[in-house]
Amino acid sequence: MMEEKIKSLLAEVSDFKAATRQDLESFRLRFISKKGAVTELFESLKQIPADQKKMFGKVLNELKQAAENKFAALSESLESVADSTQIPDLTLPPVPNTVGNLHPLFLTKLRIIEIFERLGFTVEDGPEIEDDWHNFSALNFPENHPAREMQDTFFIEKSATEGGDKLLRTHTSNVQIRLLEKQKPPVRAIMPGRVYRNEAISARAHCFFHQVEAIYVDKNVSFADLKQTLYHFAKEMYGKDIKLRLRPSFFPFTEPSAEIDVTCLICKGDGCVVCKRSGWVEIAGAGMVHPNVLRNCGVDPEEYTGFALGMGIERVTQLRYQVNDLRLYSENDVRFLKQFHTEGTA
Ligand code: DAH
Repeated sequence: MMEEKIKSLLAEVSDFKAATRQDLESFRLRFISKKGAVTELFESLKQIPADQKKMFGKVLNELKQAAENKFAALSESLESVADSTQIPDLTLPPVPNTVGNLHPLFLTKLRIIEIFERLGFTVEDGPEIEDDWHNFSALNFPENHPAREMQDTFFIEKSATEGGDKLLRTHTSNVQIRLLEKQKPPVRAIMPGRVYRNEAISARAHCFFHQVEAIYVDKNVSFADLKQTLYHFAKEMYGKDIKLRLRPSFFPFTEPSAEIDVTCLICKGDGCVVCKRSGWVEIAGAGMVHPNVLRNCGVDPEEYTGFALGMGIERVTQLRYQVNDLRLYSENDVRFLKQFHTEGTA
């Protein structure tokens, strides 16, 4: 009797199939729980004659083991089915993707473009590898001007033809020439770009940096137009309380020339290391385009006049975001770069 019961239970255990958690639970109740069939059989061992107890005990233990193994196998297979068919919880908040952000110099460049575009300036581009003519000669630099020295300029290639030496442009003023050569006035454009100078790298100087050049050539363009444009730019960039100062200066390609200062936004004019305790920071050079420059580009200086300016993007950015070391811009330290997160706007 006992033997048959064990056999049929063994068969039942091995044939059992569980499609749901409920099936699994009924298996547990039937074979494994304290009130299940196996426990019941252990109870009835008491009535078995002593000489057979050992044998039945062994077989019963095997049944118990088989039931436990089966239970473990059934729960594992049910779990993996559950994993693959689980419907995602659509109410969970999304995991945000970490996005990068625009470089502070790029953000400032975009802002500068935005301000000048509203005044009707177009945006032009020019080469970083330039010849001597466009970088120096056409801009009225005399033959032996110190800026042409190897200490300041990265020369790439000597040339037998005059003005043909190849170099890395030292300013964006080369694009003024390229533009005036190909376009008749009126010309009103800004030209952002990277420039190179043979300088030792420090907190205040770098061997490459960025400028935005602006040029406006037409009939009757005056110094007053230049001043008004600069003033408008400074207010748009830094707010209406900003003060502007023009200091007389010299550039071979402008006459008269000026250097443009704004109030130091780092110390608010009190005096700090950035403004060398003067309360003012230089952001651009400017002036009226020299008649020789217009002539070199085939524009008649009797008919046309113009103003030009060249602005340092690093400097404008420094005042905008209070960055005190030029090297930070090119070291790619994410702790620095992450601070300019703008939620996708410029
Ligand atoms: N090219 C000059 C520089 O790199 C900046 C500059 C000054 C540009 C006066 C101009 C200008 O167009 O009119 O320092």
